[in-house]
Amino acid sequence: MGRIIALTNSKGGVGKSTVAVHLAAWCAGQGRSTALVDADAQGASSQWLHEAAPDIALFRLQTPDEILDQVPQLAAQFDVLVIDGPAGLSEVTRAVLLVAHLALLPCGPSVLDLRAVQEAIRVVGQAQRIRGGPPQAALVPNKLQVQYRLTQEFLAAVPTLGVPVLSGLRLRQAYADAVGQGTLVWRLGPRGLAATEELSRLFEELSLHEHETHDEPSVANE
Ligand SMILES: Nc1ncnc2c1ncn2[C@@H]1O[C@H](COP(=O)(O)OP(=O)(O)OP(=O)(O)O)[C@@H](O)[C@H]1O
Ligand SMILES: [Mg+2]
Repeated sequence: MGRIIALTNSKGGVGKSTVAVHLAAWCAGQGRSTALVDADAQGASSQWLHEAAPDIALFRLQTPDEILDQVPQLAAQFDVLVIDGPAGLSEVTRAVLLVAHLALLPCGPSVLDLRAVQEAIRVVGQAQRIRGGPPQAALVPNKLQVQYRLTQEFLAAVPTLGVPVLSGLRLRQAYADAVGQGTLVWRLGPRGLAATEELSRLFEELSLHEHETHDEPSVANE
């Protein structure tokens, strides 16, 4: 069975689709058979990936039933399934958490974002109790501005959340450009270089995470 990695959070605009599209393209680029499941009714990530990497399989699953029935079948056909979840802790998000192996929680660097991710972590905990273990969960700090007090306060607070913290992504124009142009940051040339490097670091951490038996936090300090 392939690995099912879901992007979820209770808050919108935190980078779920940005990470989902790049992760799917990165896994495919590594030679792993990969599909993106777009579970968000907005369909943003399936449109984006269709433009950026038309060879990658795309599935739009919009209801809890579709997710619970079809994701396990799809996971039997691919090495990696990336699920882009909707914003919020709807029944769709809860269904996604019942099938995923790993839930990545992108989170912006503010107190409001921290509160939102705490709610998401609580719902991940419900799924873990129901399933007697999975999904693993990890926070992906996003839109970091390292010189800013808010970002520093955020990074100081995240270890208390009780989930591992992966390498963060800085606030960078390249991410907005990539979606605007229907492409990927590593195709933007020199202006996409820094984003490419930090995404690669994040994705490499994920494969480490796959083999971990204990959830040791690995906070990225810049
Ligand atoms: N690190 C970043 N730096 C700059 N812009 C970013 C970054 N990450 C995401 N963005 C931008 O923020 C916006 C929201 O990102 P994205 O669509 O990935 O979030 P989302 O969580 O999927 O949102 P939604 O809840 O609406 O589905 C997009 O315009 C995206 O280009
Ligand atoms: Mg999205």
